[in-house]
Amino acid sequence: MHQSPVEAAPKAELHIHLEGSLEPDMLLALAQRNGVSIPYSNADELRAAYDFANLQEFLELYWAGQSVLRTERDFYDLAHAYLARAHRDNVVHAEAYILPQGHTPRGVPFAAVLDGALAAFEDARHAFGITGGLILGLNRHESEADALAVVDSARPWRDRILALGLEGPEKGNPPSKFTRIYDVARDLGWHLTAHAGEEGPPEYIIEALDVLRVERIDHGVRCEQDPALVRRLAEAQVPLTVCPLSNAMLKVFPRLEDHNLRRLLQAGLCVTVNSDDPPYFGGYVNANYTKASAALGLTVDEQYQILRNGFVAAFIHDDLRSRYLRELESAWSASRQ
Ligand code: HPA
Ligand code: ZN
Repeated sequence: MHQSPVEAAPKAELHIHLEGSLEPDMLLALAQRNGVSIPYSNADELRAAYDFANLQEFLELYWAGQSVLRTERDFYDLAHAYLARAHRDNVVHAEAYILPQGHTPRGVPFAAVLDGALAAFEDARHAFGITGGLILGLNRHESEADALAVVDSARPWRDRILALGLEGPEKGNPPSKFTRIYDVARDLGWHLTAHAGEEGPPEYIIEALDVLRVERIDHGVRCEQDPALVRRLAEAQVPLTVCPLSNAMLKVFPRLEDHNLRRLLQAGLCVTVNSDDPPYFGGYVNANYTKASAALGLTVDEQYQILRNGFVAAFIHDDLRSRYLRELESAWSASRQ
């Protein structure tokens, strides 16, 4: 299959939820394998339900879908399928959210979730050369005590977790609710990120930066309502992990053509492009690049800048970052000969 330069380029994906990469076919197969009953009998019925007015409507379906994940093998299969699919989009580095709170309340052992996903990353490193790892996600509508219990349960995996992140319904659940949890995670040596400014106000982005002291912002597109914040994000080069198809599907922007990705890039922000929950939102990372490029008229130089930003923003050692940036540069010049 012929790929355009942006599709063929080596890339990093920094904002993808493993549970949100569950394809309808796998969801149905796991429901059968685990004897979980779901109100859908085929993949088309599931796809037909992927029509959302807002984040909350999506989250309800996403949480319901997760109920088919039960065993370590399920988490291995889920993460393996994502990594194999990402490899076809030339993802060479992936940082993926995993959400224990979506599973442990149903009796799934914490170890099954982490060991299954980590084993898939390990195998993908050998099979595809993909580097990366897990972002431990916290549900922001659940309590601080619950978040602390997640972080405590994760201590045995401390050295195999890349970062702490915050996801779930944003409005009414400000980042400051988790200040103490982020302090603990910082002491554990984890990187820090959080969803902010997807549906929530610019103030939540400021809180994530000042109170949680995150290194990146997931989404962050609502920063545009606060010009001083836009200047700050540009000056400090705080990466935004933007997900264009997700934002269009969840009506953060009325249409993909209305997305502010290009304006933020032109304002000097370190924006990256990612898929969030690909089967739910209509595409993996390459589709996000190509559809956003077409809808917004991104130039090839802008595409290259975004690809570069992905490696600049990755939670990796500088030696590996330099290697990826060199590989991107040579692939890009070769593909544009
Ligand atoms: N926002 C908040 N929570 C999520 C998302 C998102 O885009 N995707 C999966 N969980
Ligand atoms: Zn997300």
